[in-house]
Amino acid sequence: MRQPRITSAMAEACRLGLPSLFFVPLLLWLAHPTHGYKPVILVHGLFDSSVNFKCLVEYINKSHPGTNISVLDLFDHRSSLQPLWKQVMGFREAIYPIMQNAGKEGVHLLCYSQGGLICRGLLETIPDHNVDTFISLSSPQMGQYGDTDYLRYLFPTYMKANLYRFCYTQFGQSISICNFWNDPHHHDMYINSSDFLAPINSERPEPNTTDWKKNFLRLRKLVLVGGPNDGVITPWESSHFAFYDENEKVQEMQQQKVYTDDSFGLRTLDKRGAITVYSVPDVTHTMWHSNETVYKECIEKWLT
Ligand SMILES: *[C@@H]1O[C@H](CO)[C@@H](O)[C@H](O)[C@H]1NC(C)=O
Ligand SMILES: *[C@@H]1O[C@H](CO)[C@@H](O)[C@H](O)[C@H]1NC(C)=O
Ligand SMILES: *[C@@H]1O[C@H](CO)[C@@H](O)[C@H](O)[C@H]1NC(C)=O
Ligand SMILES: *[C@@H]1O[C@H](CO)[C@@H](O)[C@H](O)[C@H]1NC(C)=O
Ligand SMILES: *[C@@H]1O[C@H](CO)[C@@H](O)[C@H](O)[C@H]1NC(C)=O
Repeated sequence: MRQPRITSAMAEACRLGLPSLFFVPLLLWLAHPTHGYKPVILVHGLFDSSVNFKCLVEYINKSHPGTNISVLDLFDHRSSLQPLWKQVMGFREAIYPIMQNAGKEGVHLLCYSQGGLICRGLLETIPDHNVDTFISLSSPQMGQYGDTDYLRYLFPTYMKANLYRFCYTQFGQSISICNFWNDPHHHDMYINSSDFLAPINSERPEPNTTDWKKNFLRLRKLVLVGGPNDGVITPWESSHFAFYDENEKVQEMQQQKVYTDDSFGLRTLDKRGAITVYSVPDVTHTMWHSNETVYKECIEKWLT
């Protein structure tokens, strides 16, 4: 990928949490009512909160001044471990009025990490949503199968090969990570037990499957961002709807059964030319929203 020079002085400042007074006059100057940018809604990831989007909000403010940005402060930190359906319902309550305010013009949804799965839940279950572009920022869209620092902290006695024993139980499914734990060696158990990913992928049919697909396909544009140095999402290609086969070999999105069956609309969207995939090297998981190169290359142009 092309790597433009960036004005890293400010990028540095927001990452380190230094005061960005330098920017205030610039922002005020740019603050003339420049209409036309759709509102942007940001949904955070596991163990995060709205604070983590400080840099991203600055980048958007800088490139698209006047954008109405809603950073949703729900299910922060440890609460982000709550079951994903519960989080979808909670975020829905907050997001629906924002969608209604935006009316026909619509909104953009930018969702990071686990938040990208919550956003898919929203897209599938809000029948009249008006999301124009959904940007999925390093989200395990096809699930997670790998040890990460998060998992070691949560499940110190389990290793990845054994986590299915815990995750694919009713109790396990009360924890968000297990809702998208996708063990390729126990695929049948995943299909039977996953309360969230298997249903929203329509790998396990639900009464609402047809409606969910129709709702998802209201989306105009899907942007998938991820990269090989992520370090948390495993396999990192899950951020592009690719995933392990039973030999832990990564199969591309187009090889996935959910794609070939078009079970929830992914193939239809792709055939429309509505999916853009970015693979960005040298970005670790916690930096996706705070790297101005990523913003410039993969995000900025979609937020119009
Ligand atoms: C975004 O910029 C506007 C001015 O353009 C400013 O009033 C607002 O405080 C900024 N918001 C954030 C979160 O930086
Ligand atoms: C920004 O969006 C929120 C949510 O729709 C709305 O309540 C608020 O009035 C908007 N702000 C502006 C300045 O338009
Ligand atoms: C599923 O469909 C039923 C009947 O149409 C509806 O009442 C319910 O809200 C739907 N559930 C979800 C999660 O979309
Ligand atoms: C999955 O569920 C089906 C139907 O209830 C059952 O026949 C099958 O044994 C289950 N498989 C596993 C691996 O739990
Ligand atoms: C930001 O992303 C670029 C593009 O991949 C990468 O080269 C750079 O190392 C990243 N910087 C940080 C601090 O993550």
